[in-house]
Amino acid sequence: MKMVDQIGNCELILALDIDDRSEAIQLVKRSGDSLTWVKIGLQMFTKYGPDYVREISDLGKKVFLDLKLHDIPNTVAKAVASVCELPIDMLTLHTCGGKEMMERAVKSQREHKPELQLLGVTVLTSMDDEALAGIGVNRTAAAQVSALTALAGEAGMSGLVCSPHEAAQVKLAHGSQFKLVTPGIRPPGADAGDQKRIMTPRLAAAQGADFIVVGRPIYQAKDPESVVKSILGDLR
Ligand code: C5P
Repeated sequence: MKMVDQIGNCELILALDIDDRSEAIQLVKRSGDSLTWVKIGLQMFTKYGPDYVREISDLGKKVFLDLKLHDIPNTVAKAVASVCELPIDMLTLHTCGGKEMMERAVKSQREHKPELQLLGVTVLTSMDDEALAGIGVNRTAAAQVSALTALAGEAGMSGLVCSPHEAAQVKLAHGSQFKLVTPGIRPPGADAGDQKRIMTPRLAAAQGADFIVVGRPIYQAKDPESVVKSILGDLR
């Protein structure tokens, strides 16, 4: 199967991992109009709630709500229906919740917000083979990722969050069935911070990433807008 090179199509998502609401709003404003997507995670959602999502959306940004839902099928389906009332464009859930949970989530999403992209998280990058064994998963993380990816496809999920180092493997196995969102991205020369397996924006797109998530290199910069522009330039 042909590799899917996404240079030219790959989009940038700013990870808004900032404690203070007004600082976060200022940062989004300072990142400029060429920034389209913003990721809101559990840290901010649990602190500021749905109104914060609406506030970011009102700034003209698309919102990736990274809640990583994981519960019984009925509860997840209802949670999906609830968040579909918010102005969001992307949402995550844990594929290890199982096929029925994913199917019910997909059904709920299609009923309530057909345009919403529902992404599956496979194995958290904080889990290695030993940690998986600790919860009774007696196969490698790589084998677990590929089993959960196949299950996500069967359940009708349309996207996955993965490392850019796994993007090519997923695209080779599944073609363009899944939209791939990849964190662990650093522009050339940027500080890696605690990220271990990093990749530049352009290389990640060349590996098949449809979206790249970038946090610190943008929000810690003196001039966030210039970093956004330089990343977008790298992707074109
Ligand atoms: O600051 P940095 O660019 O490293 O931020 C990356 C973002 O992507 C953070 O919000 C982090 O929680 C998220 N993420 C990640 N690795 C994963 C999944 C999500 O870095 N496997």
